[in-house]
Amino acid sequence: MSLDFVGIVLVDVIMRRLRPLKRLPPGSLGIPVIGQSLGLLWAMRANTAEKWIADRATKYGPISKMSLFGKPTVFIHGQAANKLVFTSDGSKMSNHQTESVKRILGDRCLLELSGQDHMRVRKALASFLKPDSLKNYVGKMEEEIRLHLLMHWQGKQKVTVLPLMKTLTFNIICSLLFGLERGARRDSIVQYFQQMIGGMWSVPVNLPFTRFNRSLKASAEVQRMLKQLISEKRIELENGASSHQDLITCLLSILGEDNQELMSEDEIIHNIMLIMVAGHDTSSVLITFMVRILANDPNIHAAVLTEQDEIKKSKPSGELLAWEDLAKMKYTWRVAMETLRTVPPVFGGFRKTLEDIDYEGYIIPRGWQIFWVTSMTHLDDNIFPEPSKFDPARFENPASIPPYCYIPFRGGPRICPGYELAKIETLVTIHYLVTHFTWQLCCNDNGYRRDPMPVPNQGLPIQIVSKEVL
Ligand code: HEM
Ligand SMILES: *[C@@H]1O[C@H](CO)[C@@H](O)[C@H](O)[C@H]1NC(C)=O
Repeated sequence: MSLDFVGIVLVDVIMRRLRPLKRLPPGSLGIPVIGQSLGLLWAMRANTAEKWIADRATKYGPISKMSLFGKPTVFIHGQAANKLVFTSDGSKMSNHQTESVKRILGDRCLLELSGQDHMRVRKALASFLKPDSLKNYVGKMEEEIRLHLLMHWQGKQKVTVLPLMKTLTFNIICSLLFGLERGARRDSIVQYFQQMIGGMWSVPVNLPFTRFNRSLKASAEVQRMLKQLISEKRIELENGASSHQDLITCLLSILGEDNQELMSEDEIIHNIMLIMVAGHDTSSVLITFMVRILANDPNIHAAVLTEQDEIKKSKPSGELLAWEDLAKMKYTWRVAMETLRTVPPVFGGFRKTLEDIDYEGYIIPRGWQIFWVTSMTHLDDNIFPEPSKFDPARFENPASIPPYCYIPFRGGPRICPGYELAKIETLVTIHYLVTHFTWQLCCNDNGYRRDPMPVPNQGLPIQIVSKEVL
């Protein structure tokens, strides 16, 4: 690490000499190895990370260097920067995760793949996650949501929203993607899974009793269980089960040109683990912060309730929601989009340069990290006037928002493939919540912090009243 650092300083010096016009961006690389990581992590905990990053932008302009998580990093921001980062796939930049994430999720997951491999695996996942195929699973999802509310909400006076939403979204993933029914097996996979996530944003030191070590152990256990599950699915398929039963059967059934399975077993396992993480940690945050805004703003609550009540009244009592009903939840989805603008679950991300890149008169050297941050465009008053105001009407005319500026799901060829699934589960959950319960916040304290996902203080405890039995 420190050798790396000496290298970087040397490169800096040599480049200044040799190429006076092509300078490294302004800013300091800070203390070796640690750099500015602690500053950023502290700011995240204190929920001032957006300000921490905006202050840097004010101080240094459109491009600056720092070092984060042991690597020299260039932070760029704004519409043009987002476009550069999201669209130059392949030769200029590669996707890049921290060492811990790579070791825990596995090196064949989508986040680690590039070029042809990325396209092949992404296409396979997308064939299951596209609206046309998800349509058939709305009922299954709704069943999970009703069961969840019956078990954890109905008859209660007080609930804590975030942990419950994590449970719910995890159960949805289990049932929908893995065909893993409720029971002892699901419970034990949840346990290992929680341990596994615990070390994803840790320093990768593999010694006994470190978070990272525990997380690796749990990851091995999850992988063992998934291997077992996959071999059972293979047998079910041989015995004539439908390939559309769940994500695993779907992936096992996709054949390549040579008539062999398109994805290797490792690829299936690593991507299932990725989806377990990407698919529940994010949407649970979105639903939780929508519950919070609905408690804080009576006008928004009234408008969402009117829309959902109308849909409910239009159906015979007890009938499940249909695909067409979701299309009518336009206002509710605009509230969700505004929630994602103001509290994006994903703070930002990293890419790695594969060659020197010229940007704004500076050079971003090969092998460095590029850091992009969601809030920089989301809170820019040239793009979203009065950015601190919560206003769902901003999304009435999507064409009014410039491209590469609204990026909670990122953009370009690596845009989140789980967008539709997240949308469906959010809309169905909010439908049930507003039509069956009223609630108010228990704490006056409206704060939250990042860890690295946004976490409302105390997990958002609320007082609830059932207005209709499920
Ligand atoms: C509100 C909910 C969600 C948000 C805000 C969100 C956001 C994102 C973002 C920002 C990325 C890019 C990350 C990066 O480049 O470092 C991403 C990637 C990804 N997301 Fe989501 N996501 C959500 C829900 C989901 C769901 C439900 C699934 C799965 C079913 C999912 C699966 C994935 C996968 C597989 C990738 C990697 C794509 C690739 O590299 O090609 N996400 N998501
Ligand atoms: C955890 O640490 C111990 C002791 O260093 C090591 O033997 C073990 O392999 C580590 N576990 C994993 C899963 O790497």
